[in-house]
Amino acid sequence: MSTTIPRYAVFGHPIAHSLSPRLHAVFAAQTGIALEYVAIDATPEAFVDALRDFFAAGGCGANITLPHKAAAFALADGCVATAQRVGVANVLTRLSDGRIEADSNDGAGMLADMCGRCGADPRDRHVLLLGAGGAARAAAFALLDAGVGSLTIANRTTARAQALAGSLAEPGRVGVARWDALEQSRAFDVIVNATSAGVQHAALALPSSLVHAHTIAYDLSYGPAARPFAGWAKRAGCAAASDGLGMLVETAAASFERWHGVRPDIDAALKEISAGNRP
Ligand code: ATR
Repeated sequence: MSTTIPRYAVFGHPIAHSLSPRLHAVFAAQTGIALEYVAIDATPEAFVDALRDFFAAGGCGANITLPHKAAAFALADGCVATAQRVGVANVLTRLSDGRIEADSNDGAGMLADMCGRCGADPRDRHVLLLGAGGAARAAAFALLDAGVGSLTIANRTTARAQALAGSLAEPGRVGVARWDALEQSRAFDVIVNATSAGVQHAALALPSSLVHAHTIAYDLSYGPAARPFAGWAKRAGCAAASDGLGMLVETAAASFERWHGVRPDIDAALKEISAGNRP
């Protein structure tokens, strides 16, 4: 009797850099669960059709990365509470009745890595968030939940930063700084890069006045995409800088657990994929 191997995928654009297929293969080997997990490059114009085709052909679940997180949330049939609040999704699951459920575990994954591995507990800290796209939205809600003292959002397009700040509805703790006037801002305890500049091979021109002797820089990107921001953090004098590889493993593990009901060994997987993939 033949059995069908359940099929999963990560959708993004670009997607060639993604370590998600390798990570899910590592988790599958750890847990003895048979699965197929592929990377699918879909432009914004092609994304909705590509995703619908994937699920129509029996796909069981998908991870969603830039720039599709808001579109993924919009096309789902339902969502868990976290995704509802954040308004973006990085996990889609086909339920037994065929409906597609949206989830957002980026924020929890970022915090677990920041606090657990990077020694960057953001509680009571003054945090600068760079970016206002889907990844930044998830990070912003998580940082507020973690108890930051203040959250300043700066984005190349200021109107998007203002819109994100407005939807957070915490004017006492949340502010917006103009991207082209960051040298007039204070220095921050934690600087989180949630832009996709690194993935687009673009450098960020940030002033070193954002940094003090204890500033920790955290990038949601990983691999070569994280090198420019890590380089800037070092030159600017940050006490430490981390890429988002640990966050990726945390979020992938949460997706794996959602789909297969088994929690994989996160630290072992992180060790396995770290070689050659850290800035
Ligand atoms: P994601 O889902 O990963 O957040 P996104 O929604 O496309 O992807 O958002 C990308 C973010 O990176 C945006 O905040 C974008 O700024 P704009 O809103 O001005 O487009 C930011 N970004 C992308 N390239 C950038 C660059 N070269 N310099 C600065 N910010 C950049």
